Amino acid sequence: MASLQASCTVLSTNPRSHSSSSTQPLSAKPSHLFTNQRRSHRFQVSCDAKKNVETSQGKIDRRNMLLGLGGMYSAANLVSNPSAYADPVQAPDFTKCGDAYVKDVLLDVKCCPPLADKIIDYELPKFEVLRKRPAAHRATKEQVAKYEKAIQAMRDLDTSDPQDPRGFTQQANIHCAYCNGAHDQVGDFSNLDLQVHNSWLFFPFHRWYLYFYERILGKLINDPTFALPFWNWDNPKGMTLPPIFDKPSSPLYDAKRDPKNNGSAIVDLTFSGSTDPLQLVANNLSSIYSEMVRSVSTTTAFVGKPYCAGSKPSPGGGSSENGSHTGVHWWVGTKDTSGPNKFNEDMGNFYSAGRDPVFYCHHSNVDRMWHLWRDVVKNDIPKDITSPDYLNAEFLFYDEHKRLRIDLPWLNYRPPSKAVKAKVENISDTKTAASVLPVNLKKTVRLIVPKSAKGKADEQLVLEDIQTDTTKFIKFDVFINDEDDKIEELDRAEYAGSFAQVPHKSKNKKGKATISLKLTDMYDDIDVSEDDTIVVTIVPRSNGQDVTIGGIKVIPVPKQAQSG
Ligand code: C2O
Repeated sequence: MASLQASCTVLSTNPRSHSSSSTQPLSAKPSHLFTNQRRSHRFQVSCDAKKNVETSQGKIDRRNMLLGLGGMYSAANLVSNPSAYADPVQAPDFTKCGDAYVKDVLLDVKCCPPLADKIIDYELPKFEVLRKRPAAHRATKEQVAKYEKAIQAMRDLDTSDPQDPRGFTQQANIHCAYCNGAHDQVGDFSNLDLQVHNSWLFFPFHRWYLYFYERILGKLINDPTFALPFWNWDNPKGMTLPPIFDKPSSPLYDAKRDPKNNGSAIVDLTFSGSTDPLQLVANNLSSIYSEMVRSVSTTTAFVGKPYCAGSKPSPGGGSSENGSHTGVHWWVGTKDTSGPNKFNEDMGNFYSAGRDPVFYCHHSNVDRMWHLWRDVVKNDIPKDITSPDYLNAEFLFYDEHKRLRIDLPWLNYRPPSKAVKAKVENISDTKTAASVLPVNLKKTVRLIVPKSAKGKADEQLVLEDIQTDTTKFIKFDVFINDEDDKIEELDRAEYAGSFAQVPHKSKNKKGKATISLKLTDMYDDIDVSEDDTIVVTIVPRSNGQDVTIGGIKVIPVPKQAQSG
């Protein structure tokens, strides 16, 4: 029996009782936090609503821990804002873990974790040694050998002790339980799924998930320096499936992948469908530049929208989650629509994604993109969310018991300016937005949208009330004043940004999202000097028939705002 099996770790510096029994692990949750008014509106709780909260004895900030983990939060953010002090998403109750679904189909997997006698607050271990994550395509023989050995040891636990929470399947199931409806929100909100995607919980949840995964692997091979490789898909040299994952005899192999995407196939992060490797590389760099730099106007536009206790799941993911992150899931998974892999296993559905070892390598780069946005991309946007609703969110995990010269080819990948200003009046098939909304994306739509000010204003495009079928891969791209029909090319001045979604379960299959795309830099590149309207072209790439857009507008960019 694994020594760690009985220690279930709450990521919390919360001083409330940690020795509750496994039947009621979170029984000390202060239910009096919810005022009557909020009770009656509990299913429309907005994270940034002013909270009228009683003293929440036992609730303290967890930011010190976050500081310790990766230096994620700067000293300026240590000022707390009591008026906004509220209810972060609470850790799930493992004893109430239920069935997992895709669409309305009950999965035949049981992805609930084993129960523990005890939940203990996680304390960061004393710093011992820096783990340096290598790029997967440059990993040394020794690094690869250790990685394979550790994953093999994890796989072995599946048979030697299937209840060991550190086993390969148990680890994969963590993702299933937090993403496909097995965990509900606790307490008053138990009719709401707990969902760690499509919101501001996306980056922190996955950082913690990988943190423990990496420590477990290191422990299984007795190597405290063990570090997960990252899939360097933001660099042309890393844009194929890393070769270490493509040997059928290796524990890193997964048979449930799209068979076309091995060898030298270039990842299509944008669902462009291009078969030209050079165009694919250009599209990838252009869309990474867009989601990291150009189209991002606010903190939440990058990190994801607020999601708190009582919030409906999936309020909206950030640009990187919706963009490259989703692109990789889609590209790696099968494209089957029937048969045993009809949910695009493994990488193409949240419930199964963790069964492909490349998932953790992909997310290691997703985590790196968060770091790069925060520390390398220079602009005026506040990089950290300071709301306690975010900082104090909790998860449960079982524990285990940086060459600074970085090559970022996308960082200056601003597409070339248009040589000749588009004649907006010559763009065909345009309709005024007001006359066609809501509009379905069965086919490309072109809408005339008024600007908030004439000429080159500091503006963003907001697509609202984006209704999707959450059981489908969704992707569409947005272009401004686009005269051409080179729809497979994203490395153009007119490309404004994208929306994408990985299939997931939600209570009624319906998702509702909003995206904001900053237009300011683009205006310089496409010359809108005298115009008071723009033409917005929306190109569906995947399952457009399952997307309807309810609203579209151009508004001024909020000044240094986190929300929007
Ligand atoms: Cu939790 Cu890439 O998904």
